[in-house]
Amino acid sequence: MNPPELTPLTARQSGPMQGRARVPGDKSISHRALILGALTVGETTVGGLLEGEDVLHTASAMRSLGAQVERTGDNTWRIHGVGVGGFVKPAGMLDFGNSGTGCRLAIGAVAGTPVTVTFDGDGSLRGRPMQRVLDPLTKMGARVVEVGDAGRLPLTLQGAAEPIPITYEPPVASAQLKSAVLLAGLAAPGETTVIEAEATRDHTERMLKHFGAKISSRPFGEHGRRIVLQGQPELEPANVLVPADPSSAAFPLVAALLVPGSELFLDAVMTNPLRTGLLTTLREMGASIEVLEKRDDGGEEIAHLRVRASVLKGVEVPPERAPSMIDEYPILAVAASFADGITRMRGLKELRVKESDRLAATAEMLRANGVVVEIEGDDLIVQGKGRPPGGGEVRTHMDHRIAMAALIMGLGTDNPVRIDDSAFIATSFPGFVELMRSVGADLT
Ligand code: S3P
Repeated sequence: MNPPELTPLTARQSGPMQGRARVPGDKSISHRALILGALTVGETTVGGLLEGEDVLHTASAMRSLGAQVERTGDNTWRIHGVGVGGFVKPAGMLDFGNSGTGCRLAIGAVAGTPVTVTFDGDGSLRGRPMQRVLDPLTKMGARVVEVGDAGRLPLTLQGAAEPIPITYEPPVASAQLKSAVLLAGLAAPGETTVIEAEATRDHTERMLKHFGAKISSRPFGEHGRRIVLQGQPELEPANVLVPADPSSAAFPLVAALLVPGSELFLDAVMTNPLRTGLLTTLREMGASIEVLEKRDDGGEEIAHLRVRASVLKGVEVPPERAPSMIDEYPILAVAASFADGITRMRGLKELRVKESDRLAATAEMLRANGVVVEIEGDDLIVQGKGRPPGGGEVRTHMDHRIAMAALIMGLGTDNPVRIDDSAFIATSFPGFVELMRSVGADLT
């Protein structure tokens, strides 16, 4: 078999980014809407669903587990769920493609159902740690039938016939891990408790409440949360409206900051405080970002963002901010390379186990374009010199966010930035190239 063909793309220095744009629906919320819809008896409708490849893999997985999942219009989906404990054995293995979130959340949901299921994914996902979710789920009664070396995919899990509620303190700050335990806890009698030392995105908790589950979340320690879920709830079908993804909005937003003369409006972006670390950091760097018409919509906060080109300065980003901007470091590193002075991003250990080793891939992306960058322990240190020369070819390592960050960089550098493969952008941001072109980006 021939290796799949690569689809390179080049970004060139562009005129001002201008106009309005609405980025696609939030990836985290889209996965959760499909999974909770599948765990609920009756009809759930979802509007604004992200139709990226990651989420489409979750949709087919839920179908294979017995739910009816149909697309009824643009970004609009209808799910007839099977109820907690109602999944059936799929005919074959479940393929999650590039998606750690889809896979880990589905593992959690399956762990509370007495079915045996095989989970797999692409080369990137096969390299990512799954043992972290298997540890608590086996305590809850699930059994690992087969797993790759060092807890890697493909893996086969037999869900528990009588799941046991646990109290769990995740050893890493991970919303995927927390969510896997909560989804398994739905099928267990009594209380499942997750105690997070560092609060992570709380979309699972918010959506469980929206579907009628009894779940509480209280502050714990300086930065943490204690979450308690009452098991075996009668989930009620609900309508979910997915807001625009702040992690996708980050790309046009940083483009507007970097390209002189830009003024861009980004519509109805989710501003859940556990996702806005990038906005806080960019503002500390001197970015002009206005948050307009903030309001609540379907259980999440949203707002319009007005972004204007800004002179940025280097800052220190504290480690406790990492969970609220974990996916934004590649694009923040790009912004830092256009700033004046050093930006030190601290505590980025988790970046090593994303779609790529993102710490290494981010440093490599910047170096290829003439930026001085170092990795010291778990910190990334970028020396900003106003405007990097560019001119590099960036290896994207099957990582959508490296691909998009590199292209945004090339809109401001003196020389073009080329990426080896743009295919993975479709996992999270279908229409990225068209949207960026519509606001003035030169991408060919
Ligand atoms: C996600 C959680 C984060 C994030 C991922 C989406 C989620 O991963 O990187 O893109 O939807 O729960 P971790 O939980 O592994 O930090």
